[in-house]
Amino acid sequence: MQLNAEDEAMLEGRAGPAKQRAMQGLVQLGKAYGAEDMVDIGYAHIHAGMALYWKDVELMEELVGLGASMAVPASANIANADTQGWRATGAPEALARLQQRAGDAHRALGSDACFTCTPYWAGHWPTWNTHMASIESTVTVFCNSVLGARSNRDGFFAVYAAIAGRYPRFGYHLDENRRGSHLVRVEAEPDGVSDYSALGFHVGAEVGGGVPVFTGFRARPSLDALDALGAALATSGGVSMFIVPGVTPPYADLAVAFPQGVPAEAVVVMGADIEAVFERFSTGRSDAIDLVHLGCPHASFEEMKHYAALLRGRKVHGGLELWVTTSRAVRNMAREAGLLAVLEAAGAKVVSDTCPMACHFARTVSPDPALGVVPPPKRTIVVDSAKQAKYVRDMIQCETLLTTPEGAVETAVSGRFVPRRGLNR
Ligand code: F3S
Repeated sequence: MQLNAEDEAMLEGRAGPAKQRAMQGLVQLGKAYGAEDMVDIGYAHIHAGMALYWKDVELMEELVGLGASMAVPASANIANADTQGWRATGAPEALARLQQRAGDAHRALGSDACFTCTPYWAGHWPTWNTHMASIESTVTVFCNSVLGARSNRDGFFAVYAAIAGRYPRFGYHLDENRRGSHLVRVEAEPDGVSDYSALGFHVGAEVGGGVPVFTGFRARPSLDALDALGAALATSGGVSMFIVPGVTPPYADLAVAFPQGVPAEAVVVMGADIEAVFERFSTGRSDAIDLVHLGCPHASFEEMKHYAALLRGRKVHGGLELWVTTSRAVRNMAREAGLLAVLEAAGAKVVSDTCPMACHFARTVSPDPALGVVPPPKRTIVVDSAKQAKYVRDMIQCETLLTTPEGAVETAVSGRFVPRRGLNR
């Protein structure tokens, strides 16, 4: 792989031990994927340091000890506990304190300890053609597909990229991979973020690691709809990028999205395909609901407004909890706008830094015994996101009921499940 003088200096340790370790990792990554050289990056969304694993936080602290710092603007991904409001979630204090230590490490590194899967709603908005790195698939797919930035799904290498400010040029950093692989004709009429989530889940399973190109939307999808679509595409498939001609920069039409020629065959999505995803994730019992969840991916300010409008003057049913997960930045915006007061007056818990599947509810992880994590029993969790549904099932190992945000709020207020079609939408 071709390295420039600065890369060589880092690799040889002349820029300090942290940059040396980072460059060693990036060279290894680049060689594994046949990269010819490295590019400057302009942003990185990096590993949080997950408090369910003591050593994981210590790893971030070790980087601080080596003198590491962020060479580019960087944000931290979702964590295992709400570092400010953990008591309301029932998380053990030891877990929250350890997660706070990870936050301290980020502040020492110079990364934004925002602990969110939607850093773009918190102000991290890389623009067209910005090379970047990301640990979070939702961020990768949003930045590639909505903002026109260039990102792979990186894992811990995103930390090394942020320290070095460099990244090996392969995958979605190359024009040749940023072109359509599948034509998707949407015959359904998705209505609202949960329909887009179900649509993405269905299409992701069809196209695997491809780049689906969507046609047939009756109207330009909202940013929240695109966010939900991408998150679900990246969950059921290995999708890192999708194209909506006229939305995804710089793809104005199908001809630009398919420079090799528009495929003759299309993946056709009918309304029944969307309904099937709702059915697939609606196996729980309506009379055994423990938690209703909104905010996967972490809610935008627009979504917070919507939730507040639905909940204004109402009360969450006594037998269950309603969680709204969002970034701390958006929670602060919601506080300023008076929305937080509305949500909390209704009895909703507005949780930041984590989400149900990532917090102490997870049963498929083995946290350090000193943290005192005992996953509480959960029977059914109501969600409005196919991504959260999949991970709740896999990680918390309980049943789900999938509905819309409106259905979730009605469920939370009534205590009885209100499905997608139960609202005459
Ligand atoms: Fe974010 Fe958790 Fe959903 S990490 S994308 S809220 S599963």
